[in-house]
Amino acid sequence: MKRFLSLTAIVLVLMVAVIGCQQAPKVLKVAVLAPLSGPVPTFGVSTRDGALLAINEWNAKGGVLNMKITPVVEDSQCTPDPAVNAANKVINQDKVHYIVGEVCSKASIPISEIANAAKVIQISPTSTNTAVTVDKSGATKAYIFRACFIDPFQGKVGATFAFNNLKAKNAFIMFDQSNDYVKGLAEAFEATFTQLGGKIVGKESYDGAKDTDFSAILTKVKGAKPDIVYLPDYYNVVNLATKQAKAKGITAPFMGGDGWDSSDLDTKASDGGYYTNHYSPDDQRAEVQNFLKAYGAAYKDDKNNPKVPDALAALAYDATNLLLTAIKNAGADNTDKVKAAMEGISFDAVSGKITYDAQHNPVKGAVILKVTGGKVTFNSFVAP
Ligand code: PHE
Repeated sequence: MKRFLSLTAIVLVLMVAVIGCQQAPKVLKVAVLAPLSGPVPTFGVSTRDGALLAINEWNAKGGVLNMKITPVVEDSQCTPDPAVNAANKVINQDKVHYIVGEVCSKASIPISEIANAAKVIQISPTSTNTAVTVDKSGATKAYIFRACFIDPFQGKVGATFAFNNLKAKNAFIMFDQSNDYVKGLAEAFEATFTQLGGKIVGKESYDGAKDTDFSAILTKVKGAKPDIVYLPDYYNVVNLATKQAKAKGITAPFMGGDGWDSSDLDTKASDGGYYTNHYSPDDQRAEVQNFLKAYGAAYKDDKNNPKVPDALAALAYDATNLLLTAIKNAGADNTDKVKAAMEGISFDAVSGKITYDAQHNPVKGAVILKVTGGKVTFNSFVAP
Protein backbone atom coordinates (compact mmCIF):
# COMPACT_ATOMS: atom_id res chain seq x y z
CA MET A 1 0.00 0.00 0.00
CA LYS A 2 2.78 2.36 1.00
CA ARG A 3 4.68 1.46 -2.15
CA PHE A 4 1.57 2.00 -4.24
CA LEU A 5 1.06 5.45 -2.69
CA SER A 6 4.60 6.55 -3.33
CA LEU A 7 4.39 5.31 -6.90
CA THR A 8 1.18 7.25 -7.38
CA ALA A 9 2.88 10.30 -5.91
CA ILE A 10 5.78 9.97 -8.33
CA VAL A 11 3.42 9.57 -11.27
CA LEU A 12 1.45 12.62 -10.14
CA VAL A 13 4.59 14.72 -9.75
CA LEU A 14 5.74 13.68 -13.21
CA MET A 15 2.36 14.50 -14.73
CA VAL A 16 2.34 17.93 -13.12
CA ALA A 17 5.87 18.51 -14.37
CA VAL A 18 4.98 17.51 -17.92
CA ILE A 19 1.82 19.61 -17.97
CA GLY A 20 3.79 22.49 -16.43
CA CYS A 21 6.37 22.27 -19.20
CA GLN A 22 3.74 22.19 -21.87
CA GLN A 23 1.96 25.18 -20.45
CA ALA A 24 5.03 27.33 -19.80
CA PRO A 25 4.71 29.84 -22.65
CA LYS A 26 7.80 29.92 -24.80
CA VAL A 27 9.10 33.44 -25.07
CA LEU A 28 11.56 35.10 -27.41
CA LYS A 29 13.14 38.21 -25.92
CA VAL A 30 14.22 41.05 -28.18
CA ALA A 31 16.15 43.95 -26.64
CA VAL A 32 15.48 47.44 -27.97
CA LEU A 33 18.34 49.81 -27.08
CA ALA A 34 17.35 53.40 -27.83
CA PRO A 35 18.25 56.93 -26.66
CA LEU A 36 15.08 57.74 -24.71
CA SER A 37 16.91 60.41 -22.72
CA GLY A 38 20.11 62.38 -23.35
CA PRO A 39 20.76 64.78 -26.23
CA VAL A 40 18.42 63.27 -28.87
CA PRO A 41 15.28 61.85 -27.20
CA THR A 42 13.03 62.04 -30.29
CA PHE A 43 15.37 59.45 -31.89
CA GLY A 44 14.71 57.08 -28.98
CA VAL A 45 10.94 57.45 -28.86
CA SER A 46 10.53 56.89 -32.62
CA THR A 47 12.86 53.88 -32.56
CA ARG A 48 11.10 52.27 -29.61
CA ASP A 49 7.66 52.87 -31.12
CA GLY A 50 8.63 51.51 -34.55
CA ALA A 51 10.14 48.36 -33.01
CA LEU A 52 7.18 47.77 -30.68
CA LEU A 53 4.69 48.15 -33.53
CA ALA A 54 6.45 45.37 -35.44
CA ILE A 55 6.58 43.13 -32.34
CA ASN A 56 2.87 43.69 -31.63
CA GLU A 57 1.98 42.81 -35.22
CA TRP A 58 3.97 39.56 -35.05
CA ASN A 59 2.43 38.66 -31.68
CA ALA A 60 -1.07 39.30 -33.05
CA LYS A 61 -0.29 36.71 -35.73
CA GLY A 62 0.95 34.15 -33.18
CA GLY A 63 4.53 35.29 -32.56
CA VAL A 64 7.52 33.65 -34.20
CA LEU A 65 8.10 29.85 -34.29
CA ASN A 66 5.24 29.55 -31.75
CA MET A 67 7.03 31.87 -29.32
CA LYS A 68 5.57 35.08 -27.99
CA ILE A 69 7.96 37.98 -28.54
CA THR A 70 8.76 39.99 -25.41
CA PRO A 71 10.54 43.33 -25.85
CA VAL A 72 13.19 44.44 -23.34
CA VAL A 73 13.52 48.21 -23.77
CA GLU A 74 16.56 50.04 -22.35
CA ASP A 75 17.61 53.70 -22.52
CA SER A 76 21.10 53.79 -24.03
CA GLN A 77 21.24 57.59 -24.36
CA CYS A 78 23.20 57.88 -27.65
CA THR A 79 26.33 57.78 -25.45
CA PRO A 80 29.01 55.05 -25.20
CA ASP A 81 28.98 54.32 -21.40
CA PRO A 82 25.21 54.04 -20.88
CA ALA A 83 25.02 52.08 -24.14
CA VAL A 84 27.64 49.57 -22.91
CA ASN A 85 25.81 49.21 -19.58
CA ALA A 86 22.50 48.62 -21.35
CA ALA A 87 24.07 45.99 -23.65
CA ASN A 88 25.69 44.16 -20.72
CA LYS A 89 22.43 44.25 -18.79
CA VAL A 90 20.26 42.77 -21.55
CA ILE A 91 22.85 40.13 -22.49
CA ASN A 92 23.92 39.02 -18.99
CA GLN A 93 20.76 39.55 -16.93
CA ASP A 94 17.89 39.28 -19.40
CA LYS A 95 19.79 36.69 -21.49
CA VAL A 96 18.58 38.11 -24.79
CA HIS A 97 19.96 36.67 -28.02
CA TYR A 98 18.85 39.61 -30.17
CA ILE A 99 19.34 43.38 -29.97
CA VAL A 100 17.65 46.05 -32.09
CA GLY A 101 19.67 49.27 -31.66
CA GLU A 102 21.29 51.65 -31.04
CA VAL A 103 20.43 54.70 -33.14
CA CYS A 104 23.70 56.63 -32.85
CA SER A 105 26.85 55.19 -34.38
CA LYS A 106 29.00 56.19 -31.39
CA ALA A 107 26.75 54.04 -29.17
CA SER A 108 26.25 51.19 -31.66
CA ILE A 109 30.01 50.71 -32.19
CA PRO A 110 30.81 49.79 -28.53
CA ILE A 111 27.61 47.70 -28.29
CA SER A 112 28.67 45.77 -31.40
CA GLU A 113 31.93 44.68 -29.75
CA ILE A 114 30.04 43.22 -26.77
CA ALA A 115 27.25 41.63 -28.82
CA ASN A 116 29.61 40.07 -31.34
CA ALA A 117 31.82 38.54 -28.63
CA ALA A 118 28.69 37.08 -26.95
CA LYS A 119 27.33 35.77 -30.30
CA VAL A 120 24.27 37.94 -29.82
CA ILE A 121 22.74 39.28 -33.04
CA GLN A 122 22.64 43.07 -33.15
CA ILE A 123 20.82 44.91 -35.87
CA SER A 124 21.12 48.67 -35.76
CA PRO A 125 18.20 50.31 -37.51
CA THR A 126 19.95 53.62 -38.16
CA SER A 127 23.68 53.69 -37.36
CA THR A 128 25.34 54.64 -40.64
CA ASN A 129 29.06 54.69 -39.70
CA THR A 130 31.02 51.90 -41.42
CA ALA A 131 32.73 50.79 -38.16
CA VAL A 132 29.45 49.39 -36.77
CA THR A 133 29.65 46.18 -38.82
CA VAL A 134 33.38 46.05 -39.64
CA ASP A 135 36.29 45.82 -37.18
CA LYS A 136 39.60 47.70 -37.35
CA SER A 137 41.22 45.00 -39.48
CA GLY A 138 38.42 45.31 -42.02
CA ALA A 139 36.74 42.01 -41.09
CA THR A 140 32.94 41.84 -40.92
CA LYS A 141 31.63 41.36 -37.37
CA ALA A 142 29.79 38.04 -37.78
CA TYR A 143 26.71 38.78 -35.64
CA ILE A 144 26.25 42.49 -36.44
CA PHE A 145 23.91 43.94 -39.10
CA ARG A 146 22.13 47.19 -39.89
CA ALA A 147 18.92 48.19 -41.69
CA CYS A 148 20.22 51.47 -43.19
CA PHE A 149 22.69 52.58 -45.88
CA ILE A 150 26.18 53.70 -44.81
CA ASP A 151 27.77 57.18 -44.66
CA PRO A 152 30.17 56.87 -47.62
CA PHE A 153 27.00 56.59 -49.72
CA GLN A 154 25.03 59.23 -47.80
CA GLY A 155 27.90 61.76 -48.01
CA LYS A 156 28.30 61.10 -51.72
CA VAL A 157 24.59 61.66 -52.33
CA GLY A 158 24.68 64.94 -50.37
CA ALA A 159 27.79 66.27 -52.14
CA THR A 160 26.53 65.30 -55.59
CA PHE A 161 23.20 67.03 -54.94
CA ALA A 162 24.93 70.16 -53.64
CA PHE A 163 27.28 70.35 -56.64
CA ASN A 164 24.97 69.27 -59.46
CA ASN A 165 21.52 70.38 -58.35
CA LEU A 166 22.21 73.35 -56.08
CA LYS A 167 25.19 74.40 -58.28
CA ALA A 168 27.29 74.94 -55.15
CA LYS A 169 30.97 75.39 -55.98
CA ASN A 170 32.28 76.43 -52.56
CA ALA A 171 31.35 74.55 -49.39
CA PHE A 172 32.15 75.15 -45.71
CA ILE A 173 32.13 72.08 -43.44
CA MET A 174 31.36 72.20 -39.71
CA PHE A 175 31.72 68.92 -37.78
CA ASP A 176 31.81 67.41 -34.30
CA GLN A 177 35.22 65.79 -33.88
CA SER A 178 33.95 63.60 -31.01
CA ASN A 179 31.09 61.99 -32.98
CA ASP A 180 31.99 59.05 -35.27
CA TYR A 181 28.90 59.61 -37.40
CA VAL A 182 29.41 63.35 -37.94
CA LYS A 183 33.14 62.94 -38.65
CA GLY A 184 32.60 60.09 -41.10
CA LEU A 185 29.85 61.86 -42.97
CA ALA A 186 31.87 65.10 -43.22
CA GLU A 187 34.78 63.13 -44.71
CA ALA A 188 32.54 61.41 -47.25
CA PHE A 189 30.99 64.72 -48.31
CA GLU A 190 34.39 66.37 -48.73
CA ALA A 191 35.78 63.49 -50.81
CA THR A 192 32.97 63.59 -53.35
CA PHE A 193 32.57 67.37 -53.41
CA THR A 194 36.24 67.95 -54.23
CA GLN A 195 36.29 65.07 -56.70
CA LEU A 196 33.45 66.74 -58.59
CA GLY A 197 35.51 69.94 -58.77
CA GLY A 198 34.05 71.80 -55.80
CA LYS A 199 36.18 73.66 -53.27
CA ILE A 200 36.13 73.37 -49.48
CA VAL A 201 36.57 77.00 -48.40
CA GLY A 202 36.67 76.21 -44.68
CA LYS A 203 36.47 73.25 -42.34
CA GLU A 204 36.04 73.72 -38.60
CA SER A 205 35.43 71.29 -35.77
CA TYR A 206 33.72 71.61 -32.38
CA ASP A 207 32.83 69.32 -29.49
CA GLY A 208 29.12 68.57 -29.80
CA ALA A 209 28.87 67.27 -26.22
CA LYS A 210 30.03 70.62 -24.77
CA ASP A 211 29.86 73.48 -27.25
CA THR A 212 26.70 75.54 -27.47
CA ASP A 213 28.20 78.76 -28.83
CA PHE A 214 29.26 78.49 -32.47
CA SER A 215 29.95 82.20 -33.03
CA ALA A 216 33.72 81.84 -33.60
CA ILE A 217 33.17 79.27 -36.34
CA LEU A 218 30.22 81.16 -37.81
CA THR A 219 32.34 84.32 -38.12
CA LYS A 220 34.70 82.27 -40.29
CA VAL A 221 31.76 80.92 -42.29
CA LYS A 222 30.56 84.45 -42.99
CA GLY A 223 34.01 85.55 -44.11
CA ALA A 224 34.46 82.55 -46.43
CA LYS A 225 31.21 83.28 -48.33
CA PRO A 226 30.39 79.64 -49.14
CA ASP A 227 27.50 78.61 -51.41
CA ILE A 228 26.57 75.95 -48.88
CA VAL A 229 27.42 74.99 -45.28
CA TYR A 230 27.59 71.25 -44.63
CA LEU A 231 26.64 70.44 -41.02
CA PRO A 232 26.03 66.68 -40.74
CA ASP A 233 25.12 66.64 -37.02
CA TYR A 234 22.03 65.69 -34.98
CA TYR A 235 19.05 68.04 -34.73
CA ASN A 236 19.97 69.38 -31.28
CA VAL A 237 23.28 70.83 -32.56
CA VAL A 238 21.75 71.82 -35.93
CA ASN A 239 19.07 73.84 -34.10
CA LEU A 240 21.67 75.82 -32.13
CA ALA A 241 24.05 76.43 -35.03
CA THR A 242 21.46 77.39 -37.67
CA LYS A 243 19.73 79.79 -35.28
CA GLN A 244 23.03 81.49 -34.50
CA ALA A 245 23.89 81.58 -38.22
CA LYS A 246 20.62 83.32 -39.10
CA ALA A 247 21.23 85.86 -36.31
CA LYS A 248 24.67 86.53 -37.81
CA GLY A 249 23.14 87.21 -41.23
CA ILE A 250 24.48 84.09 -42.94
CA THR A 251 22.20 83.39 -45.91
CA ALA A 252 23.93 80.35 -47.46
CA PRO A 253 21.74 77.25 -47.04
CA PHE A 254 22.80 74.58 -44.57
CA MET A 255 22.85 70.95 -45.57
CA GLY A 256 23.07 67.79 -43.48
CA GLY A 257 22.29 64.11 -43.20
CA ASP A 258 19.79 61.82 -41.49
CA GLY A 259 20.67 63.29 -38.08
CA TRP A 260 18.43 66.27 -38.94
CA ASP A 261 15.39 63.99 -38.95
CA SER A 262 13.34 64.98 -35.91
CA SER A 263 9.96 66.44 -35.03
CA ASP A 264 12.06 68.83 -32.93
CA LEU A 265 14.12 70.17 -35.87
CA ASP A 266 13.88 73.98 -35.79
CA THR A 267 12.48 74.40 -39.29
CA LYS A 268 12.54 78.17 -39.01
CA ALA A 269 16.27 78.33 -38.25
CA SER A 270 17.12 75.72 -40.91
CA ASP A 271 14.69 77.12 -43.51
CA GLY A 272 16.07 76.69 -47.03
CA GLY A 273 18.23 73.77 -45.89
CA TYR A 274 18.44 70.24 -47.30
CA TYR A 275 19.21 66.83 -45.86
CA THR A 276 19.65 63.28 -47.02
CA ASN A 277 17.44 60.64 -45.42
CA HIS A 278 16.23 57.03 -45.59
CA TYR A 279 12.57 57.25 -46.51
CA SER A 280 9.76 59.64 -47.27
CA PRO A 281 6.11 59.25 -46.19
CA ASP A 282 5.25 60.58 -49.67
CA ASP A 283 6.49 57.32 -51.22
CA GLN A 284 3.40 55.57 -52.64
CA ARG A 285 4.75 51.99 -52.37
CA ALA A 286 2.34 49.70 -50.49
CA GLU A 287 4.95 48.93 -47.79
CA VAL A 288 5.16 52.65 -46.94
CA GLN A 289 1.44 53.40 -47.08
CA ASN A 290 0.48 50.35 -44.97
CA PHE A 291 3.11 51.24 -42.40
CA LEU A 292 1.84 54.85 -42.23
CA LYS A 293 -1.68 53.58 -41.53
CA ALA A 294 -0.63 51.10 -38.83
CA TYR A 295 1.71 53.59 -37.12
CA GLY A 296 -0.90 56.38 -37.21
CA ALA A 297 -3.50 54.05 -35.70
CA ALA A 298 -1.15 53.00 -32.89
CA TYR A 299 0.38 56.38 -31.99
CA LYS A 300 -1.11 59.88 -31.68
CA ASP A 301 0.51 63.31 -31.36
CA ASP A 302 -0.31 65.99 -28.73
CA LYS A 303 -3.46 66.97 -30.63
CA ASN A 304 -4.56 63.34 -30.87
CA ASN A 305 -3.83 63.24 -34.61
CA PRO A 306 -2.23 60.11 -36.07
CA LYS A 307 1.56 60.43 -35.77
CA VAL A 308 3.50 60.45 -39.04
CA PRO A 309 6.50 58.15 -38.58
CA ASP A 310 9.96 59.60 -39.21
CA ALA A 311 12.87 57.63 -40.70
CA LEU A 312 13.88 56.36 -37.27
CA ALA A 313 10.48 54.78 -36.69
CA ALA A 314 10.46 53.32 -40.21
CA LEU A 315 13.93 51.80 -39.84
CA ALA A 316 13.25 50.39 -36.35
CA TYR A 317 10.13 48.76 -37.78
CA ASP A 318 12.18 47.42 -40.70
CA ALA A 319 15.03 46.18 -38.47
CA THR A 320 12.62 44.32 -36.18
CA ASN A 321 10.73 42.77 -39.09
CA LEU A 322 14.00 41.73 -40.72
CA LEU A 323 15.20 40.08 -37.54
CA LEU A 324 11.94 38.20 -36.88
CA THR A 325 11.74 37.09 -40.52
CA ALA A 326 15.30 35.77 -40.29
CA ILE A 327 14.45 33.87 -37.08
CA LYS A 328 11.42 32.39 -38.81
CA ASN A 329 13.49 31.45 -41.87
CA ALA A 330 16.19 29.96 -39.65
CA GLY A 331 13.58 27.77 -37.93
CA ALA A 332 15.24 28.06 -34.53
CA ASP A 333 16.27 30.51 -31.83
CA ASN A 334 19.90 29.92 -32.66
CA THR A 335 22.07 32.91 -33.50
CA ASP A 336 24.37 30.99 -35.84
CA LYS A 337 21.40 29.89 -37.91
CA VAL A 338 19.75 33.32 -37.71
CA LYS A 339 22.92 35.08 -38.81
CA ALA A 340 23.06 32.82 -41.90
CA ALA A 341 19.38 33.54 -42.57
CA MET A 342 20.04 37.29 -42.29
CA GLU A 343 22.89 37.05 -44.80
CA GLY A 344 20.60 35.38 -47.33
CA ILE A 345 17.49 37.49 -46.79
CA SER A 346 15.63 39.46 -49.45
CA PHE A 347 13.05 41.63 -47.76
CA ASP A 348 10.68 44.33 -49.01
CA ALA A 349 11.05 46.84 -46.20
CA VAL A 350 9.42 50.25 -45.73
CA SER A 351 12.79 51.83 -46.51
CA GLY A 352 13.27 49.75 -49.68
CA LYS A 353 14.29 46.26 -50.67
CA ILE A 354 16.97 44.85 -48.37
CA THR A 355 19.64 42.31 -49.28
CA TYR A 356 23.05 42.22 -47.56
CA ASP A 357 26.52 42.79 -48.95
CA ALA A 358 29.60 41.06 -47.48
CA GLN A 359 29.93 43.76 -44.79
CA HIS A 360 26.33 43.21 -43.59
CA ASN A 361 25.20 46.51 -45.11
CA PRO A 362 21.99 46.81 -47.12
CA VAL A 363 22.37 48.38 -50.52
CA LYS A 364 19.57 50.95 -50.70
CA GLY A 365 18.70 54.33 -52.14
CA ALA A 366 18.35 57.66 -50.33
CA VAL A 367 15.95 60.58 -50.41
CA ILE A 368 16.69 64.29 -50.39
CA LEU A 369 14.42 66.47 -48.28
CA LYS A 370 14.08 70.25 -48.20
CA VAL A 371 13.18 72.40 -45.21
CA THR A 372 10.83 75.10 -46.40
CA GLY A 373 7.97 77.15 -44.95
CA GLY A 374 8.16 75.40 -41.59
CA LYS A 375 7.89 71.96 -43.19
CA VAL A 376 10.12 69.21 -44.46
CA THR A 377 9.25 68.36 -48.06
CA PHE A 378 10.30 65.57 -50.39
CA ASN A 379 12.74 66.67 -53.10
CA SER A 380 14.05 63.54 -54.85
CA PHE A 381 15.09 59.89 -54.71
CA VAL A 382 18.65 58.80 -55.36
CA ALA A 383 19.24 55.19 -56.44
CA PRO A 384 22.04 53.18 -54.77
N1 PHE B 1 22.84 57.86 -38.79
C1 PHE B 1 22.95 58.41 -37.46
C2 PHE B 1 24.18 57.80 -36.76
O1 PHE B 1 24.74 56.90 -37.26
C3 PHE B 1 21.71 58.19 -36.64
C4 PHE B 1 20.42 58.67 -37.23
C5 PHE B 1 19.77 57.97 -38.24
C6 PHE B 1 19.80 59.80 -36.78
C7 PHE B 1 18.55 58.41 -38.79
C8 PHE B 1 18.61 60.25 -37.33
C9 PHE B 1 17.98 59.55 -38.34
O2 PHE B 1 24.60 58.20 -35.70
